[in-house]
Amino acid sequence: MCGIVGYIGSRSAAQICLEGLHRLEYRGYDSAGIAVVRDGELDVRKVVGKLLNMDASLAETPLPGTIGIGHTRWATHGKPSLDNSHPHVSMNGRIAVVHNGIIENYGELREQLKAEGYEFKSQTDTEVMAHLTQKYYEGTPGAPGDLRAAVVRAVQDLRGAFAFGIICADNPDQLVAVRRFSPLVVGLGEGENYIASDMGAIRKETDKVYVIDDDEVALITREGVELTDLDGNPLQREAFVIPWPADAAEKGGHKKFMHKEIHEQPDAMRACLAGRLSDPDQPLVLEGMNLTPDEIRGLHKVVFTACGTAYHAGLVGRFLMEYLAKIPAECDLAAELRARNPVVLDDTLCVPISQSGETADTLVALRDMKDKGSKCVSVLNVVDSSIARESDGVVYIQAGPEIGVASTKAFSLQVMTMTLMAIHFAEVRGTADPALLRELKAALLEMPRHAEELLKREDDVLAVAQKFYQLDDSLFLGRGVNLPSAMEGALKLKEISYIHAEGYSAGEMKHGPIALVCPELFTVAVAVHGDVYEKMIGNIQEIKARSGPVIGLIDDGDSLMGEQCDAAIWVPQVPEMVSPLTTAIPLQLLAYHMADLRGEDIDQPRNLAKTVTVE
Ligand code: M6R
Repeated sequence: MCGIVGYIGSRSAAQICLEGLHRLEYRGYDSAGIAVVRDGELDVRKVVGKLLNMDASLAETPLPGTIGIGHTRWATHGKPSLDNSHPHVSMNGRIAVVHNGIIENYGELREQLKAEGYEFKSQTDTEVMAHLTQKYYEGTPGAPGDLRAAVVRAVQDLRGAFAFGIICADNPDQLVAVRRFSPLVVGLGEGENYIASDMGAIRKETDKVYVIDDDEVALITREGVELTDLDGNPLQREAFVIPWPADAAEKGGHKKFMHKEIHEQPDAMRACLAGRLSDPDQPLVLEGMNLTPDEIRGLHKVVFTACGTAYHAGLVGRFLMEYLAKIPAECDLAAELRARNPVVLDDTLCVPISQSGETADTLVALRDMKDKGSKCVSVLNVVDSSIARESDGVVYIQAGPEIGVASTKAFSLQVMTMTLMAIHFAEVRGTADPALLRELKAALLEMPRHAEELLKREDDVLAVAQKFYQLDDSLFLGRGVNLPSAMEGALKLKEISYIHAEGYSAGEMKHGPIALVCPELFTVAVAVHGDVYEKMIGNIQEIKARSGPVIGLIDDGDSLMGEQCDAAIWVPQVPEMVSPLTTAIPLQLLAYHMADLRGEDIDQPRNLAKTVTVE
């Protein structure tokens, strides 16, 4: 959840770390810090709050030095404060450590180190690593004064998840990095090299990285990078070339990343379809799954698993997998999947879904399902992420970098990928009417154009937002394949505007939530045409009868439904099974504009982080 950047070369390490941290600030933004080595001493600067405070601090008093490590923090152990922010420094003041992850046994290590005379300044788990590294740096048998050896020895004492960047005042020519279960890359330059928890942080500097695996350690100098395992065996690694341009993670004239990413959806949809579907009369092609046609035909169950927005996409996947491919399907919150210890029968396919590919709960669910014998084909955005590397197959959604904490384009493309997967399985298994599959494929090919049309209507959504944004409570209702749309609409609104929002099946209204209906609570009803259309009319009337204002998401030209609602957001009519793609965009815009009108910090909502790398 935290962000790490490090640099060794001939330029200002603090400036390069700061620029990288700005690109990582979406991961956490409670506090930040940078340490450099200069004239044989560590120089550490920390600020509480956003990185703007670090900009100001470095502008006032620069931090010279050509080797350094930086960190943005999302607090797990200890509140945001100067003492708790990284880098943490060993007791002798010579070793500085930045960390992403959680050291599970830090309590017992802390007690041991205290008994050995080490004093702690913070409440963090990370500080134990600074002291352990000092301990082993001073006393590693056969190798005192060897930073890499000390780090390797220290991590053997740790349980939990970590990516570390470590420097030592005694050695201004070495940066050491190591990981277990937390993402880490080493960026490759000419006479300079980098580390980062996310390749986006250093993409402006280089497009070549080594992706570091669990229990691998990198010794980084200005001249090169040595990769070894924890036993010291050298490792050969092909450099990975980052597949998106250096400016892909810039705002491009938009006020917020979220807004930019909502507007990128037409092009991202085209990228997602490219090479997979170009003609509705041809079977679609889905590479990367690593499943034979016989394996697809033999499937007895599909289990989707994910968190947050990706979970909502998984719910659409579950619906379509049963509807089209006729395979019994489940969708579990990743944090719950392991908790319920599921029974996994033969021929079960697990489909973890994740934008980042680093979400700890989803990674743990994947491992658990693999242990139970399930094959795992993941639906991911970030290439070569941890989940990608542990999966049997991967289908990439091709969304490009997503920076805004509120996931938008990733949701649409996860849904599009789920739809492609369900159609593909239905084609291979022969389980759906070919005319229906043709209709859905044609509709998918039209989707980028519909997305463009929906974005042109942004001002209409803004007008609806202006009417309701001062209310503090809302319900989002949907049914069938659009129940996940309602749940996702509610999540989007609550996480960036802080308006209380509940996503519910409209069918559940009468079983409790209708008690909340009153003029101060607005309802957003996803009421496009399809099997559940008439039932949605009934639900809207029940709300209107209780003086609840209703915003309807309605097909173009549907005056009957339009008359039922206090405000309408119109969407182009498409086949019901692909309508979660058209309803997503206006719901994202509604959340965005309500939050903007309320003056909230849309790209960095309180308490959240883009990538949740702790369970
Ligand atoms: O990177 P992932 O897709 O695995 O992330 C899952 C959730 O943490 C994420 O979707 C989260 O719910 C977003 N803040 C939603 O906008």
